[in-house]
Amino acid sequence: MPQPRSAEGVQRRVVSFARTDGRALRRRDHASEQAGRAFMLEPPRGETSTSIAPGSRLDPVAAFGRIAPLVVEIGSGVGESLIHAAQSHPEMDFLGVEVYRPGNARTLAALLREGLTNVRMVRGDGVDVLEHWVEPGTLSQVWTFFPDPWPKSKHHKRRLVDDSFALVVGRSLRPGGAWRLATDWAPYALRMRDVIRACPVLDNPHGGRCDRDDPEAGFAPRFEGRPVTKFERKGTDAGRTVRDLTAHRRSE
Ligand SMILES: C[S@@+](CC[C@H](N)C(=O)[O-])C[C@H]1O[C@@H](n2cnc3c(N)ncnc32)[C@H](O)[C@@H]1O
Repeated sequence: MPQPRSAEGVQRRVVSFARTDGRALRRRDHASEQAGRAFMLEPPRGETSTSIAPGSRLDPVAAFGRIAPLVVEIGSGVGESLIHAAQSHPEMDFLGVEVYRPGNARTLAALLREGLTNVRMVRGDGVDVLEHWVEPGTLSQVWTFFPDPWPKSKHHKRRLVDDSFALVVGRSLRPGGAWRLATDWAPYALRMRDVIRACPVLDNPHGGRCDRDDPEAGFAPRFEGRPVTKFERKGTDAGRTVRDLTAHRRSE
């Protein structure tokens, strides 16, 4: 099957995002982007503006100026979870990964407003960031909250959470490190649970008697570090149930 072309005309694998940011930024977002430049990391790019060149490496000490447990959020939106976590845990560092430029700008605005120094942002595809840029086996946690559900079955291949992403996340975590997920989309929640179960480097601490036919088994209690975001509110307002999942990197 032919692979889709990016905005740059490069043929590449299916990605989990659709927005191309072709439009100019709103003036306020542009100002935030300029003011927050010091908090944006700029990895070497591959063939597209959201890819990362294989063979490059994130240096957390250079990026944050210290050694601290590092949490990476993939698809950080406008930064609600990141900002909340960075305020609650000044002893930890947080890297937000988001392809949507206005989302990055609004996160920068919030972290400048709150005077936070333990957050950095990168504009890019989270798959590439974890696969090519992060040192394997080093992350304390990876977060994937309310990834786009791509509800139509012909679009399911665009979903971020699949077998190959689970392996990429698992390999990026230190032994015992946690992948935390949340979604309000029931079929996606069940898929996430199955993906975790099938991943050879991850364990589900809530999956003891995880029965494939039991739609309630294998989910985690709500992660207390996760604030209610716009996306969660949209789901609950529409009557959907939010499910959390946790997976731990096996110690081997
Ligand atoms: C539904 S929003 C959820 C945002 C946020 N996690 C929250 O709970 O409010 C999903 C976000 O993931 C971003 N996204 C989708 N695929 C991505 C990828 N491969 N890498 C980085 N960001 C991605 C989208 O641009 C969007 O902002």
